[in-house]
Amino acid sequence: MRIAVLGTGYVGLVSGVCLAEIGHNVTCLDIRPEIISTLQSGTSSIYEPGMDEVLKTCLANGNIRFSLPTPEVISEHELLLIAVGTPSTSEGIDLSQVERASVLAGKALSLNATLRTIVVKSTVVPGTTLDVVTRVILENTSRSRESFGIGMNPEFLREGCAIEDFNNPDRIVIGFEDEIARTDLLEMYNYFDCEKIEVNTKTAELIKYANNYFLALLISATNEIANLSAVIGGIDPVAVMKGVVADGRWRNKGGVSPGIVSYLLPGPGFGGSCFPKDVVALKEFGLNLGLPMLIASSILTINEAQPEVSVSHAFQHLDLKHHEKALVLGLAFKPDTDDVRESPAFGITKELKKLGLDISVYDPLGLENFMSEVEVEVTPINHSPSISDFRVIVLVTPWQEFSEMIYTQATNQIIFDPRRALDRLKLADGVQYLGIGVTS
Ligand code: UDX
Repeated sequence: MRIAVLGTGYVGLVSGVCLAEIGHNVTCLDIRPEIISTLQSGTSSIYEPGMDEVLKTCLANGNIRFSLPTPEVISEHELLLIAVGTPSTSEGIDLSQVERASVLAGKALSLNATLRTIVVKSTVVPGTTLDVVTRVILENTSRSRESFGIGMNPEFLREGCAIEDFNNPDRIVIGFEDEIARTDLLEMYNYFDCEKIEVNTKTAELIKYANNYFLALLISATNEIANLSAVIGGIDPVAVMKGVVADGRWRNKGGVSPGIVSYLLPGPGFGGSCFPKDVVALKEFGLNLGLPMLIASSILTINEAQPEVSVSHAFQHLDLKHHEKALVLGLAFKPDTDDVRESPAFGITKELKKLGLDISVYDPLGLENFMSEVEVEVTPINHSPSISDFRVIVLVTPWQEFSEMIYTQATNQIIFDPRRALDRLKLADGVQYLGIGVTS
């Protein structure tokens, strides 16, 4: 199938190369010429494990190409996937990029009849595909509504394992408004034999938000219990949550924990490009419809406070000298990505600064991005640091290399582990360990 993908962010690029890898003929489009030339040279414009290899394979076999978006290029394809950004604003999501993409789609549809189906992959609030995208397309095309398909196909890709997620989907949501879109979407995903959920586009849009809302809810609810444990004292929240997930309803047969259980661990709060933005968008959307959106609000309130709450609980009994040296390990919002968007590392660093500490920061991939956004004074370290130079070590993002570094190098430091990623038994006797619910 000939597929054009508009937008080469995480979602567009991963979807484009993976669709090319399973045999489709794909053109990825972006308005930034520098991104197009980078991709044409075989270099990925985003960090994602496995991306360089897939890109090279598909460039070599001719299944993928890259271009600036024009109606002419788009019209050479059968299906257009719109995968542009939808940032949250105080008034809801910003649809300007989706609207520009819809104008292009309308013009491309007018050029010939090869282009059949327009599918929204960007995360948009319910009704956007049916009301906004379809309306803008019709305003910009000579084609009748019956002559083309309109679909919505949300993504569930996790950064850091997006290619693996694309290639091993749990389910594929086929949102459609007509038989043309339904047939084309089913053909596009024919390669995968997972469950295909066929719904209208509004339902597809809400499935995406509901999914992230529930994952974010688990994290905030767990953190509320963890904070309560810390205030009561003498309760380890990890033991509490272990008691919760031992319930057979959280387990697969045979006792194996499904992936969802990791969202039931205390931590410094969620970040990234999706959870914060999507819960805000869902809350605003509901408020505008007159609903109180109490749970969505609480998910966000707990999350925003979590860096401060976790630092203040952990450090409350410590008498640290002013300008004591602290090292923050891990700045990306999670391991295996260079993405620092909404990373809890910002909040934690700010709170540590309030304690009067002199802070150095390190991350294997996210340092540059973090330094361009951080608002408090910190010293960047460009290479794997030596722990012995610091009095306080804070493990914000648990890259695998950090645990080993701490186990082998830490001798008498104060270690703050807000994610409870370390095994305390592996730490040297002189180390003072702090984590949510653990202050000595
Ligand atoms: C998320 C969704 O998981 C994915 O399905 C969706 O379509 C895009 O948004 P992503 O943001 O890449 O993916 O990361 P995810 O691994 O889900 O983590 C999101 C946040 O939750 C991160 O801040 C992470 O640190 C935190 N998290 C994640 C936890 O606190 N505990 C976990 O077990 C997993």
